Amino acid sequence: MFKKLTITALTALTLGAGGALAAGGGANVTDYDFSFEGPFGRYDQAQLQRGLQVYTEICSACHGLELVAFRTLADPGGPSLSDEAMRDYAETFEVFDEELEDWRPAKPTDHFPASMDPNAPDLSLMAKARAGFHGPHGTGLNQLFKGMGGAEYIATYLQSFTDDMKEEAGSFFYYNEVFPDNWSSMAPILYGDDVFYADGTEATMRQEAKDVAAFLMWAAEPHLMARKQAGFVSVMFLTVLTVLLYLTNKRLWAPYKPKKQI
Ligand code: HEC
Repeated sequence: MFKKLTITALTALTLGAGGALAAGGGANVTDYDFSFEGPFGRYDQAQLQRGLQVYTEICSACHGLELVAFRTLADPGGPSLSDEAMRDYAETFEVFDEELEDWRPAKPTDHFPASMDPNAPDLSLMAKARAGFHGPHGTGLNQLFKGMGGAEYIATYLQSFTDDMKEEAGSFFYYNEVFPDNWSSMAPILYGDDVFYADGTEATMRQEAKDVAAFLMWAAEPHLMARKQAGFVSVMFLTVLTVLLYLTNKRLWAPYKPKKQI
């Protein structure tokens, strides 16, 4: 069992380190303190709701969230919209119904639409597909201590545009300090006060970037809290088991151990 666990842990580490694209722009990704980090991390419901708002009002103009079903917005642990609010929200989207052969308002079981801009990647798994931290020297130790940093990468990326832009073969590219190779075809989108938060939070650029990054982390890993809880319970269980096995072992072998000479 231990062997299997070690192998799983090692595979997870290597896959984690190799599977996600590292930020390659050279600049450092900021290590934000997100509420969902650490062994007891939990999503901050108000932050996820603000992030959903930023996604809806700004990012959804180009980016899809094809893997996320509207009903999950009402799940506990996520943005936890009320059932009614989730239904109302879904209805603001139109989906094409194959049976009706027509467009109709989306239902809770439908998914968010695909990207509107063919060049804009779907964001459903983006927070898991990017790594904010790597090294030192290819060991992946930073990821072990700081986490993969997918949400940090997104938050930093949104704030790392400079005013530089260039045109190449009719397309525009915008300089971004953390984007791999620096020239992103996405224009700077957040400036601060781009949305109005109903909960009174000040909509600075940093706040909006962090909120939408947290929301995208939830989209990519909605069951993170359950996973952490299960992990904690197994570690506790293994600790108790280790102590018991140690004591059993000691007791079983006690009769065969030579007695100490006094
Ligand atoms: C006007 C269209 C448009 C809007 C609005 C937009 N994006 Fe993008 N986004 C793009 C395009 C196009 C790319 C592809 C960039 C590239 O690969 O050069 C992109 C790429 C990205 C990436 C991937 C970066 C990488 O490392 O590959 C992330 C993350 C992202 N966008 C997040 C967002 C978020 C969050 C918002 C809302 C705050 C947003 N975008 C709004 C067009 C848009």
